[in-house]
Amino acid sequence: MAPVADALILGVETSCDETAAAVVRQGREILSSVVASQIPIHSPYGGVVPELASREHLRNILPVARSALEQAGVGYEDLAAIAVTEGPGLAGALLVGISFAKALAFALEKPLVAVNHLEGHIHAVLLRPRQAYAGPAGDPGNGTESSPDRRVLALVVSGGHTHLYLAEPRRADGGEPVWSYGNVGRTVDDAAGEAFDKVAKLLGLGYPGGPWIDALAPYGNPEAVPFTFAQIKAKAHRRGEPGALDPATATYFSYSGIKTAVLRYTHVHEMEGSIEARRAALAVMPDAGPADALPLCDRRTLDLIASFQRSVVDDLRRKTFRAAEQFGVDRVLASGGVAANRELRVRFTAEAAERNLPIAFPTLSLSTDNAAMIAAAAWPKYMAGEYAPEGLTAAPSLALGGTPR
Ligand code: KG4
Ligand code: ZN
Repeated sequence: MAPVADALILGVETSCDETAAAVVRQGREILSSVVASQIPIHSPYGGVVPELASREHLRNILPVARSALEQAGVGYEDLAAIAVTEGPGLAGALLVGISFAKALAFALEKPLVAVNHLEGHIHAVLLRPRQAYAGPAGDPGNGTESSPDRRVLALVVSGGHTHLYLAEPRRADGGEPVWSYGNVGRTVDDAAGEAFDKVAKLLGLGYPGGPWIDALAPYGNPEAVPFTFAQIKAKAHRRGEPGALDPATATYFSYSGIKTAVLRYTHVHEMEGSIEARRAALAVMPDAGPADALPLCDRRTLDLIASFQRSVVDDLRRKTFRAAEQFGVDRVLASGGVAANRELRVRFTAEAAERNLPIAFPTLSLSTDNAAMIAAAAWPKYMAGEYAPEGLTAAPSLALGGTPR
């Protein structure tokens, strides 16, 4: 079956707590992107409950896919291929999307393309209109049209991941660029988004914590509480160990220490009472949001929130730009849920401007999990005839890219 150049791909994403489907033309033009969030289901637990996630995906997948087609104004027969996230993610959650996509591809006799969720996040940036790129005048933009063979550093920072990838688009004979990835940075413990979620939880705020902290941080003094990040010793993560990177060039992140430091700060300053009062007050409000939390936060709490966010954002910024310099890349991308953070965008953009280095983020709605990014990442694979095997199954620990030597 030869690929169709004007093809529409239906993307399906169920790796964590969002059931998503999208129709994307040629990996760039989003005709529809539907996301059914499970936040209200997991909220009372302060984190994703895997069994509940699978059950909700099962309930949502068909209506979500139908409404993606409806909003795009197309039918199943108009699709050229189905794309689905194969991993990483929760096994049971991934399986719902994979089973659905496999059955659909089989029934429609259309090819199925398997996509790595992390590659999806990187492609979310490439879905932006070209004029939306922040960079020096004349920056050719997303690297998929007029700029072959550019070397890009991609930070993927979300609730499950804090990774740096060297990404290179390789144009095959004037066709679609096929991307290759090298993993050059990762967290040794918690992901940055996990730290946002845990700190929000321990301060009695809602779930997921990132958007709450993002909204409350501007009301506090980011320099009030000095958090320090210990240097992580690369020797503890030697070549050959699972997930080990090249020790000569590796960047390591670590965000479990700052969560403990925030907890210790609340003990030392006897904040437990006010935290519990806030938790209780928010719990009885229907659809409570950060605006409801603001009057329930005293100065010390707001300063703590602002200082936490500043520390994490600055650690991400310093390490990302140090790696960008080290590898001599000509562009930086930042994607994933935490890349929706306003302070992160402001501080990354300022540093990029200082260095005259183009930087790009996805639109806010494409920063968090969605299926348009999955359909976009599938496009070059579809054009290259890289279809999923019949026996495709969930790959909960799927990695992206090898370690560049
Ligand atoms: O990419 P994503 O939707 O799912 C994963 O692949 O993990 O990311 C979700 C994570 C959560 O930890 C959430 O708290 C965080 O992204 N997040 C944010 C913001 N919006 C979402 N963190 C900081 N600031 C935000 N505005
Ligand atoms: Zn994600």
